Amino acid sequence: MRINLALIFSIIIAIGIVAFGFTFFQISSERSKLSSELETRTTGVVEKVLENESLFYARINSASAGHFMDSIANKYNLLGILVYFNSDSIISNNFSDNLAGLSTKYIFQAIASESSLGNFITVDGKSVYLFIKPRKSDDISVSAIVFYTDAEYIEKIIKSIWFRNFIRWFIQAFFVSLVTILVIRWGIFNPIKKIVNWAKAVRTGSSELIKQQPQGKFLSPLRKEIEYIAKVMYEAKANAEEEARLRTNAEAIWTSERLKAEMKNLLHDKKIIVVSNREPYMHIREGKIIRCIVPASGMITALEPILKACGGLWIASGTGDADKESVDKNDKVQVPPDEPKYTLIRLWQTKEEEDHFYYGFSNEGLWPLCHIAHTRPVFRKEDWHYYRIVNEKFAKAVLNETADEEKPYILIQDYHFALLPELIRKEKPNAKIAIFWHIPWPNPESFGICPWEREILTGLLGADLVGFHTQYHCNHFLDTVNNALESRVSWENFSVKRGGRTTFIKPFPISIAFTLRDMDNDVKRITPDQLLNEYGIVAQNIGIGVDRIDYTKGLAEKFLAIERFFEKNPSYIGKFTFVQIGAPSRTLIKSYSDVVSLIENEANRINWRFKSKNWKAILLLKRHHSHEEITPFYSAAEFCMVTSLHDGMNLVAKEFVASRNNNDGALILSRFAGASHELHGAIIVNPYDIERMADAIKLALEMTPEEKCQRMKQMRQVVLTQNIYSWAATLLKTLISIT
Ligand code: G6P
Repeated sequence: MRINLALIFSIIIAIGIVAFGFTFFQISSERSKLSSELETRTTGVVEKVLENESLFYARINSASAGHFMDSIANKYNLLGILVYFNSDSIISNNFSDNLAGLSTKYIFQAIASESSLGNFITVDGKSVYLFIKPRKSDDISVSAIVFYTDAEYIEKIIKSIWFRNFIRWFIQAFFVSLVTILVIRWGIFNPIKKIVNWAKAVRTGSSELIKQQPQGKFLSPLRKEIEYIAKVMYEAKANAEEEARLRTNAEAIWTSERLKAEMKNLLHDKKIIVVSNREPYMHIREGKIIRCIVPASGMITALEPILKACGGLWIASGTGDADKESVDKNDKVQVPPDEPKYTLIRLWQTKEEEDHFYYGFSNEGLWPLCHIAHTRPVFRKEDWHYYRIVNEKFAKAVLNETADEEKPYILIQDYHFALLPELIRKEKPNAKIAIFWHIPWPNPESFGICPWEREILTGLLGADLVGFHTQYHCNHFLDTVNNALESRVSWENFSVKRGGRTTFIKPFPISIAFTLRDMDNDVKRITPDQLLNEYGIVAQNIGIGVDRIDYTKGLAEKFLAIERFFEKNPSYIGKFTFVQIGAPSRTLIKSYSDVVSLIENEANRINWRFKSKNWKAILLLKRHHSHEEITPFYSAAEFCMVTSLHDGMNLVAKEFVASRNNNDGALILSRFAGASHELHGAIIVNPYDIERMADAIKLALEMTPEEKCQRMKQMRQVVLTQNIYSWAATLLKTLISIT
């Protein structure tokens, strides 16, 4: 209210000052215009009256002079005339009888200057214009003639201008104030009121309310800030509740908070340094805008929550086409972009490095070598050369970032950096180094075909700890070392001693960020219709598959199983659709582009075979999907199908299980995925056995809700108790405990 009054008062004064200024200007120009008109008119009258001067003076000197002057005044609309001879001799008519005194000053001025003079005087409170014509002549002894004209009308006009402008000012001030009040009320107070109510509701309510934010562009920066604060508050509240629940249940479930606290204790505020090839956030250009995306990678799904919880540094290759524009002068960027928690350092690769290190040695050599998926590894000398160069480049970056730490903690990720542990060890003998191999490790005979087997093993053994997903992969690794290197392999504590140094080889089954809080989250269930509508498909049920398009994922086998399922169960035609989300990956490699064409052709062929109106057997969505885009498919599907021919772990299987908050839905899981060692509630399949996979689809669709519930509960319990925080805690504690 006080703001309103002050504002309105200011508006009235401001408009008043402007109006007064304009009126003042208008009046002075109006006054001078009217005065000059009056002067011109009076001069004209004087000329006419004195047209016949001798007659005029003759009449003036006659006995009827007063009568004569009255008649002239009447004729020319004058108030009066006065003829001045000298101070003792003045002839005047009725009006001018008493005006000689008021006029003499001007008469003298006119006589002295020998020129006509006009001026305004006030007679009885009224404005009168006097015009004096001096005269000097020998024959007639008249000194000056004064003509009096009514000038009161000028004052009236001026007054009416003042009055009109005052009314105008009043109306303007009234309307401007009214509009201002309305704009303030609707445009500012109402949105603020809504935001305040929303903030109050969010403070006391659930995270769902955060999403129901008031609309409108105005105040959107404030809304964003409140949203962020509310989110942080809600998370803190949920964490506190979760911790309390954990204490009550005396359960040992790891959370991000617990990991953070534990790491603070163990690391004594030292930063963790993560190194990987793929970066956790990629800036890409879409038309004129730059988008920040999370690339499709199980490694990122797993590692990102740890850095979010503990902070630290992540060193990775910058491969997004707008990555360079998004970093500072040290090639660093704070991430996640909305809520920075840690630093990402991007290293840049030349075209040759990318060709030979990433596409060549890493993905045409080591990847097929470690995945027994019947794609022959290719080993080229130049690829190996660049593999070493890029490993050296990353080693240099790690050493730069840890220059002032004698014993930094370094977590290296994956097969791109087999040489990195040894390269860092040489320069920093006391560094604590762990490398986690996210893909399988094959048997020694298979690995032995790599021409640089010994160098790779030596590089890896530079670490204190080499981690795999399963004990099975650890055993293969130890066998490989035993076969290829002079060393002492201990099968009692799973370690390798070489050159006075010991490296431990341990399994750490990786997982996802899933805690008690997520267990209870009320996930909105979306129907298949809602999801399929935009693709013009109508189906009662859907199954879901989410993979990078990779020959190790068994996508063609999956599609053949779906085809066989429809052959065996035609009643499902028109009722069930399988949705395959496929993120294109490493497409510059022929074996990868071949898989893309293969699965596209297979999907088209199968869809054509079972063609029916408004329905498809397989919906292939071939593009990168964000986690938010995938979640509704997980929750709408009857089952998820993972058919990897060989896979380190496969986190899609765990993500699907985590999304099923009603303990429904089934998981069909390849026995060759690491996850099959943990998720016993899944329908385990051999992806090469098409017939059984088709039966597994039927089983998944027709399993009783009770059985689904029982299986799902087992799997959710595993994902909960062995989540990514427990993975990180176990791995880091093991690393720290190595002396
Ligand atoms: C696997 C590897 C990761 C890799 C991911 C995506 O999960 O273990 O290291 O990041 O595939 O592959 P890309 O070549 O796209 O990084």
